[in-house]
Amino acid sequence: MRLAWESLGKRHVRAIAACFAGDAEGMRRVAFYSDPRRLLRLMDEKTRFAWVVRDNGRLIGLIDLEIVREGIGALALYICPASRGKGYCRALLDGLLATDPVRHLNTLIGSVEHDNEASIRCLRANGFVATGEEGVGMIEMEKVLSRAAPSVRGDAFR
Ligand SMILES: CC(C)(COP(=O)(O)OP(=O)(O)OC[C@H]1O[C@@H](n2cnc3c(N)ncnc32)[C@H](O)[C@@H]1OP(=O)(O)O)[C@@H](O)C(=O)NCCC(=O)NCCS
Repeated sequence: MRLAWESLGKRHVRAIAACFAGDAEGMRRVAFYSDPRRLLRLMDEKTRFAWVVRDNGRLIGLIDLEIVREGIGALALYICPASRGKGYCRALLDGLLATDPVRHLNTLIGSVEHDNEASIRCLRANGFVATGEEGVGMIEMEKVLSRAAPSVRGDAFR
């Protein structure tokens, strides 16, 4: 793997939309990203970041990070169908830890549907633990990045 990260931009819109074409699983889980212009409109320098990741030049996925409270970032991932099951999810989470915004966080959180086994396994393998239900059908998972900071267990979305 030779991963390269780029901040999401207009130039990526067509390639990401093309990944979603015929991707029933992607549409079921994260349809919001099928038109990445929606995410582009939300991005700013302080609270919302998104990257596309390439492996040897080939676009393999998208990662979205929102700073929901001071020190706490919520993430979501999308791997293009042709690139699934090859360890990219885990690699992207590792890479996320090295990004500038994450260096300022103490906790990462992710919300996953109960039946999204690939996502749950990926988050668990990267040190996320389930902390409770966020809503119907969703599991809230978190990874504490710094022992100095308190866990958000139980009140992440209040
Ligand atoms: C969920 C998703 C990000 C996982 O990405 P990925 O690159 O395929 O995952 P990886 O190859 O790193 O595999 C992660 C783990 O899931 C397992 N896995 C992969 N595909 C799987 C599948 N279809 N069913 C069950 N487990 C699966 C892998 O074996 C691995 O587990 P292990 O470490 O115990 O061996 C990807 O499938 C995806 O983009 N899905 C659609 C969008 C989505 O659901 N996003 C998550 C929203 S929270």
